[in-house]
Amino acid sequence: MVDLSVRIAGVEFPNPVIAASGTYGNGECYTDLYPLSKLGGVSCKGMTIEPKLGNPPPRIAETYSGILNSVGLQNIGVHGFIEYYLPTLKEEGNVIIANVAGATIDDYIAAAEALDASDIDMIELNISCPNVKQGGASWGVSCEGAAAVMSAVRRATKKPLIVKLTPNVTDITSIAKAVEAEGADCISLINTLLGMRIDINSRRPILKNNMGGMSGPAVFPVAVRMVWQCFNAVKIPIIGMGGISTWEDAIEMMLAGATAIQMGTAIFTDPYAPLKVIEGIEEYMDKNGIKSLSEIVGQVKPW
Ligand SMILES: Cc1cc2nc3c(=O)[nH]c(=O)nc-3n(C[C@H](O)[C@H](O)[C@H](O)COP(=O)(O)O)c2cc1C
Repeated sequence: MVDLSVRIAGVEFPNPVIAASGTYGNGECYTDLYPLSKLGGVSCKGMTIEPKLGNPPPRIAETYSGILNSVGLQNIGVHGFIEYYLPTLKEEGNVIIANVAGATIDDYIAAAEALDASDIDMIELNISCPNVKQGGASWGVSCEGAAAVMSAVRRATKKPLIVKLTPNVTDITSIAKAVEAEGADCISLINTLLGMRIDINSRRPILKNNMGGMSGPAVFPVAVRMVWQCFNAVKIPIIGMGGISTWEDAIEMMLAGATAIQMGTAIFTDPYAPLKVIEGIEEYMDKNGIKSLSEIVGQVKPW
């Protein structure tokens, strides 16, 4: 028997496959298909301290081998999440991760304090959202912005903290090091890559927000590259994501340095994709005599 479990910041995941934030709701859309307990964990829809309606539609555009989205963090707010979704998630799922966004440092602190008093297992800080006091540039594009969020939240909660990095930067390793220095327990990457599509007849951008975040198989090599770079730059564990669709992708991401993986866009085309990935990882381990996934994390042999 192979052991699929992985441990991150003292939290035990029965397997390394986690549903990515924003692509799995708060679990409620999928429970008719299979029990949440099949997944290693669920990263819930990004939440803000106050409820948000999100951006006007169209919010999704198709791309070659992926999608662009500009959902705009539609959510019922942290308190609504704790009251309406968390009890069922905790009852039915394994590791439950709250994905938190904020327009100001105070927003992040208020969200973290509310979640600290709940029985959420981990908090994932989405630092790809705009910092309103800095003209709307996202927190995660500078070491200072990323570190400021991380250090403020570290003081607001004892929950294990994952910082989710944006790929829209020149050097992702400097951001990874900055949040590690402020006490991050883990980093997850990548969030979506900024993109745009235009309707050639109306000459209008397809998304009402003009720009959006790209995800899906097309971004996979970018994600593998960034995970590998971060693995060589920091000591904290990494959760890898970006275009993972098959168990082969998941193993590749682990070889690059990911302790666990998240799947997002692939779930839109096949809600059972995470289960197939778990099964494939298990067979690969069995076939190759791998007893624990720690044997392959970061084990790529660079030329
Ligand atoms: C429709 C949609 C909504 C998303 N919402 C969030 C979110 O609320 N918070 C967040 O951190 N990431 C969000 N993401 C990013 C994903 O969690 C993930 O980082 C990204 O899509 C790359 O993985 P994938 O290619 O497997 O989808 C969203 C992605 C999509 C496609």
